[in-house]
Amino acid sequence: MSTNAFCVYVLMTISLNNIICEEEFKSIPVTVKTYENDTVLLPCYLQESEYKYRVRWYKDETLLGDSHDSHHLLPPRVRMHANFSLQIDNLMSQDTADYTCEVIRPEPWSPIRQTHSIEVQYSPKIRTVPEDGFLEVRKGEYVDIGCEANGTPHPIVNWRKNGEAMALLDHRPRIKFRAEHRLLAGVYECVAINGVGDPVIAAIRVVIHDAPVVSAERSFVHTAVGLRAALAAKLEFAVPPARTAWYRDGRPVKTDDRIVIMVQDNIHQLIFRTVRKTDLGNYTFRAENKLGMADVSFKLTGVPNVASFKVDQTLNKATATSFNLIWEVDSYSTIIEYNLWLRPYYGRLSTVDPSSFTTESPANLWSKIVIPGDSSDGPIHSAIYTVRGLTPSTVYEAIVTSRNRFGWSKPSAILHFATEPGYGRKVPTSDYTDITPILEDTEPQPHNISQAQTFEHFSELSKGNARENSDTLTVIAVSVWSILNIRLIF
Ligand SMILES: *[C@@H]1O[C@H](CO)[C@@H](O)[C@H](O)[C@H]1NC(C)=O
Ligand SMILES: *[C@@H]1O[C@H](CO)[C@@H](O)[C@H](O)[C@H]1NC(C)=O
Ligand SMILES: *[C@@H]1O[C@H](CO)[C@@H](O)[C@H](O)[C@H]1NC(C)=O
Ligand SMILES: *[C@@H]1O[C@H](CO)[C@@H](O)[C@H](O)[C@H]1NC(C)=O
Repeated sequence: MSTNAFCVYVLMTISLNNIICEEEFKSIPVTVKTYENDTVLLPCYLQESEYKYRVRWYKDETLLGDSHDSHHLLPPRVRMHANFSLQIDNLMSQDTADYTCEVIRPEPWSPIRQTHSIEVQYSPKIRTVPEDGFLEVRKGEYVDIGCEANGTPHPIVNWRKNGEAMALLDHRPRIKFRAEHRLLAGVYECVAINGVGDPVIAAIRVVIHDAPVVSAERSFVHTAVGLRAALAAKLEFAVPPARTAWYRDGRPVKTDDRIVIMVQDNIHQLIFRTVRKTDLGNYTFRAENKLGMADVSFKLTGVPNVASFKVDQTLNKATATSFNLIWEVDSYSTIIEYNLWLRPYYGRLSTVDPSSFTTESPANLWSKIVIPGDSSDGPIHSAIYTVRGLTPSTVYEAIVTSRNRFGWSKPSAILHFATEPGYGRKVPTSDYTDITPILEDTEPQPHNISQAQTFEHFSELSKGNARENSDTLTVIAVSVWSILNIRLIF
């Protein structure tokens, strides 16, 4: 439409008393998106006209040149042609602006203006904050990092941390947060994109200082005299670097040909080439820097490792009154005896933590069965034992401890197992209404291994205290039978 003559009928002064068709630009406003070192020609011309115009060009609001004023020199790289077009060569970023041509016409017409734009496109450039791309703070201090990205058009900035995109809601140039955790340290990268050239990436490495962190995979290390043993601590974190040391009973461990310290990557080992009886005991690995210290304790011991029950459908043979239990234990010395602890289970499935078995309520007494060990030297000892005299359709829990010449092991995880329904015995249906009161009537009793009554033979269990509750227990046991069957809780 606009290159055609577009006439506006204007009612001129009464003295002229006629109607004139006003001249309009033939050129149309343009926005030139171009690149560095290019040349741009901005037009400025009207419809064919008998008049000789005067044209001025402005960059934004600054006068660049005037066709009737040869004293006003155009800036370098800029030319005005006879047809009033403005030419700019070797474009630079500072040439990005609005360019207006103003046509000054003879009276009675007023000047008319037309504005073009030039956008010299640049791929992004980034300046990081801090400029050297490295920031060190103490835990608890603020981290303030940024990427000031320039370019035309204006770039958007996205962030990555350790190579993974960060879920930020906007394209912020700055990130500020509190270094609340050492894991907030890492390499933060900003990626600036504006569609010109390739995305530009800059990185800022954030280092957070904190007290060291140490850990150990095994703190209870089973050994025997004459064997090689190693205590291994992992220095998970040490910024600034930590001093490390091994202690025994508060005193630094004396190293020699037989006891050596080895450090590989962040694993610190205290190695006993051939263990002597005097080596057995408690050890501590300590890491310390100016922000704090961390310890991890070890026990080098000859006592057996914690035993573990084996779950096997065929070997764990169950009848109404008996059950086969199988377990394994690591010990470099002969196992002298096992203690098997048993009690009926009240169906509190929520008690998953084996260490909390001593505080479980309602109370019920553990019964102990003493089982002789084997004569093998190990290191793996297996045992199988048939528990007899059990109540049909009842869930029990079991724990085992083992003893060699160095002492007793820690208790195993609890095994839950159930006996088969008994013949000729009426299995109560799922009428639970009168269960709860009976359970509440049960006198809660203190119960843990150290206090448990000891029965020399397990058959006593069915005559003893537990017997009084067994009918009630059966009801609950049946209700959990189907979901529980046999279940080892770790
Ligand atoms: C523009 O010219 C300058 C000087 O010759 C050169 O350094 C620059 O790389 C050129 N820019 C582009 C985008 O080609
Ligand atoms: C104006 O003059 C320049 C230089 O002679 C020429 O390149 C350009 O095409 C002309 N523009 C028009 C619209 O005639
Ligand atoms: C080792 O530490 C435990 C507590 O962790 C303590 O009960 C035991 O007495 C210590 N043993 C020695 C030999 O100091
Ligand atoms: C066992 O009970 C006694 C008395 O309540 C208590 O002193 C002891 O700490 C308990 N032992 C364990 C392992 O909970």
